[in-house]
Amino acid sequence: MATELLPIGILVSGRGSNMLAIADAIAAGQVPACIKVVISDRPGAPALAAARQRGIEVMTLSRKQYPSRAAFETALAAALKDKGVELVVLAGFMRLLSQTFLDQFPQRVINIHPALLPAFPGLDAQRQAWEYGVKFSGCSVHFVDEGVDTGPIIAQAVVPVLDTDIPETLAERILAEEHRLYPQVIKWLAEGRVEVRGRRVFIRA
Ligand code: GRF
Repeated sequence: MATELLPIGILVSGRGSNMLAIADAIAAGQVPACIKVVISDRPGAPALAAARQRGIEVMTLSRKQYPSRAAFETALAAALKDKGVELVVLAGFMRLLSQTFLDQFPQRVINIHPALLPAFPGLDAQRQAWEYGVKFSGCSVHFVDEGVDTGPIIAQAVVPVLDTDIPETLAERILAEEHRLYPQVIKWLAEGRVEVRGRRVFIRA
């Protein structure tokens, strides 16, 4: 019996390499999901052109178009619902989302962060880790809550920090792991194997 495809919406603000990795994994038949829409809050985001090239529907919703954050988020949630989106995937989306927005997609908004949370949340995480001098960093996929990279962690991948690294080379190796881990987590969610108990998340066999 064919598994039903999980309808996802991807929110971006920039480059879009994670969005493309997810699109590739879906196209390769590795993830039972379908991308209903890619939405950017920045009109010039390279991710938009990349998605369009793949024939993925794109939209731009700029915060400036709306009188308030609440109005922006209402429009964002409406656009996602209108496309039938059931999982909201943040991939380099540079905005925090309010509880009002999150309540409309309970345990259905995920993010990827380029560090081993709870270490080095926020911007420029790879540089933060390199400057701190940690020997291992990596990436984390987590459910989104109102905080900055604070929601329950679904999965992490570890990347060693080499003596020869500079922040850019470390970021590059972490990014390769992001491209592997994010589709994997979406697969687990699409298969209904992810169970949340408080802050702890379990992947059923
Ligand atoms: C990634 O490093 C991701 O971990 C972080 O933002 C970056 C987005 O890169 N949240 P891209 O737009 O997916 O290439």
